[in-house]
Amino acid sequence: MHTRRLWPLVTILSVPAVAIFVVLVVAQAIDVLPALIAMAAMAGITALLLKPYIQDLEDVARFARGLPLDEEAGVPSLRTDIANDVLTALKLARRHFRSQSEELMGRLKFHETLFDSLPSPILLLDAQRRIVGENAAARKTFGRQQRDRDLAALLRHPDLLDAADKVLAGEAGGEVELTLTSPVTGEYRAMVEPLLRPGSSAAAAVLSLHDITALKRVEQMRADFIANASHELRTPLAAVLGFIETLRGPAKGDEDAHERFLGIMFEQASRMSRLVADLLNLSRIELHEHSRPEGEANLGAIVRRVATGLELTASEKLMKIDLNLDEVVPDVIGQEDELTQIFQNLLDNALKYGREGTPIIVTVRTVSDLPPGMPDKSRPAVMVSVKDHGEGIAREHLPRLTERFFRVDTARSRRLGGTGLGLAIVKHVVNRHRGCLQVESELGQGTTFTVYLPVAG
Ligand SMILES: Nc1ncnc2c1ncn2[C@@H]1O[C@H](COP(=O)(O)OP(=O)(O)OP(=O)(O)O)[C@@H](O)[C@H]1O
Ligand SMILES: [Mg+2]
Repeated sequence: MHTRRLWPLVTILSVPAVAIFVVLVVAQAIDVLPALIAMAAMAGITALLLKPYIQDLEDVARFARGLPLDEEAGVPSLRTDIANDVLTALKLARRHFRSQSEELMGRLKFHETLFDSLPSPILLLDAQRRIVGENAAARKTFGRQQRDRDLAALLRHPDLLDAADKVLAGEAGGEVELTLTSPVTGEYRAMVEPLLRPGSSAAAAVLSLHDITALKRVEQMRADFIANASHELRTPLAAVLGFIETLRGPAKGDEDAHERFLGIMFEQASRMSRLVADLLNLSRIELHEHSRPEGEANLGAIVRRVATGLELTASEKLMKIDLNLDEVVPDVIGQEDELTQIFQNLLDNALKYGREGTPIIVTVRTVSDLPPGMPDKSRPAVMVSVKDHGEGIAREHLPRLTERFFRVDTARSRRLGGTGLGLAIVKHVVNRHRGCLQVESELGQGTTFTVYLPVAG
């Protein structure tokens, strides 16, 4: 290899000597033959002297060509100082290059990890609106096969496509709220922003999707709650105001009417006060629903006490509360006053909605065969069931029973003095105590509410 490079150099370097010999031969100061021999000898010596330089240069060139490769081997051993100097400089450059590329790779990895760790799906779009990149959340949401597809093939929402087109045409970024049904379902807020393109990346815009389903649901719940609560308050308030007006006007001197109307006003005002108390109670329970309850309480004792308290009401309806308790009922985790509300409400409902003259059967038992809805399966539970023989609840109403203000028959519930918050309170107390609530009902036969609460200790 080096001979190919060596001889042209030798030839060039020999030019001055050849010229001198030619002049000497022409001037007949020397014969042709010795001149030729001398020139050949000189060329040979020049070649011998140059050879190590050429070899070293070729080795250094080979080393330099392999520089970007991450290989430690292949450092040549050289013969000449100048080539060694060049090699040292190249080695320095190689070290610098490697540390720079390691740093760049590290930064790239960092940004990739950061991109993938973002919880919202993010898509990168090129100038033709094709998907050219995505983070892990987007892969999880939309699958892996989205690369190089038009955004419209994935999300067919006109406002979103419009926003993306505007950004790609150089306009400012924007947000769009959309309801997705495929490939995912839910309410989303999509944001499209232009991307300044560093280097050769094809991405021209970034699209991020934020799941706002829960937020929308809470907004809706809040609006419903305010509408329901004000409606519940307005009805008794309107009645009270109406009676006050009547008492001041047409019924001013009517003693009988006074007595009767004041009675009704008292009833309506009590209803409002019960409603406010229930609402406050519910919000207090909700506030600490996620903190674990402390203390221990005995459901056997609680149920007995509640049943005794309702004996009079039961007898007014010719009803009887039958208690079937295990001989020993273990304590459960929780506070007595909160747990009392569960059974107060369930027994109250059984009396209200049970048929006159029928019994209410309350069973309290320890069970280790837990229902699927029980969060803590590691310990047994105390089960309390309250069974009435009322008209029952139609299947379609069962999932909504524990919603605030939900009643199967609103007029009847109101007539009976109900606020529609009882079962909502029950559900929240049961949740807080990491228990579970079940309802079974058959129209015309009756209803059984069953509560499971984890045993303490
Ligand atoms: N044992 C039951 N039998 C039949 N229907 C029931 C029974 N328990 C509850 N319901 C139905 O569920 C609805 C909601 O019950 P919930 O206890 O939350 O409210 P309420 O009894 O109407 O009022 P409150 O309990 O606040 O006084 C009731 O209005 C009723 O329609
Ligand atoms: Mg009730």
